[in-house]
Amino acid sequence: MTAPLRFLGGKGGVGKTTLAAALALRDAGRGLRTLVVSTDPAHSLGDVLDRPLGDEPRAVAPGLWAAEVSGEAQAARRVAQIVDDAAESVPREVLPAVRAHLERAVASPGTVEAALLDRLADLVEQVPSTFDRLVVDSAPTGHMLRLLTLPDLVTPWIEGLARSRERARDADRMFAGMLGHRADDPDPLLERLHARRDRMRTLRTRLRADAAVHLVLVPERLVWAETQRAIEALDEAGIPLATAVVNRVVPGDETGLLAVTRAAQDEVLGAVRARVGNAVEIPLLAGGPTGAAGLTGVAALLGDLG
Ligand SMILES: Nc1ncnc2c1ncn2[C@@H]1O[C@H](COP(=O)(O)OP(=O)(O)OP(=O)(O)O)[C@@H](O)[C@H]1O
Ligand SMILES: [Mg+2]
Repeated sequence: MTAPLRFLGGKGGVGKTTLAAALALRDAGRGLRTLVVSTDPAHSLGDVLDRPLGDEPRAVAPGLWAAEVSGEAQAARRVAQIVDDAAESVPREVLPAVRAHLERAVASPGTVEAALLDRLADLVEQVPSTFDRLVVDSAPTGHMLRLLTLPDLVTPWIEGLARSRERARDADRMFAGMLGHRADDPDPLLERLHARRDRMRTLRTRLRADAAVHLVLVPERLVWAETQRAIEALDEAGIPLATAVVNRVVPGDETGLLAVTRAAQDEVLGAVRARVGNAVEIPLLAGGPTGAAGLTGVAALLGDLG
């Protein structure tokens, strides 16, 4: 498995963040310049890595950088840019109203989602120039699927906007020609639309060609049901699936309550093996994988993950 873009996805609480951090640590240890990024609004990557993280990648270990990105931060950055631009062209007294209007627009859910996609496109564009590998600690299943398929929805929409704008410009040109004027001035709006369209097309292609999703699950019936739906949704979207990770598997030699738990897990494990074949199994670790040593320990168990 050589996909440079890895997404860790799965139901809430199954171990995505822990495994994303462990995978990134392992890859960095193999000499790959690795960036691990959380796109989950409820970030916990910084807690797992025991470092405060922000929107910009920070070095956290040799060959390893980490960030916690958000649609809100990206949208706010855009607003700041637009207000800066507007400061040049809009009267000073109007600026507060422009800012207030943009800030209201930023709060709308569609804007935040689109901005997060934009940030993801930014990061994907940095592979392979700045990073060899991008590991994404995703939000729980539904959000991840939505993010990964959003370029498919957004691209035709931007194409439509660009076409309308092209038609409007062609009509302007025709009238200008009839009046004997030349009208081939640059059209910044159309240029922005084309740039955005190309960016989304590239992201859409790269999510099929260079990306793979490692679904993480714990061996419980409800979690497995959700995982199967995710497998189908990813298949349908044409996004490659990589080796799944079954986390918190109770060791086979336990007794008492844990033995009963393991017996229940065995049923699910059988179904998982039948469906996805070569899943990597991570044992239930007493007290959880804590600290750097805990993460290194999990990283060492990721052997066949590719
Ligand atoms: N193999 C394991 N054995 C024991 N505990 C584990 C194991 N893997 C993860 N944990 C613990 O399970 C909890 C949830 O893990 P984590 O935060 O990585 O899951 P998540 O899928 O990212 O959750 P969320 O959906 O809330 O983001 C953490 O307390 C973590 O330390
Ligand atoms: Mg998490």
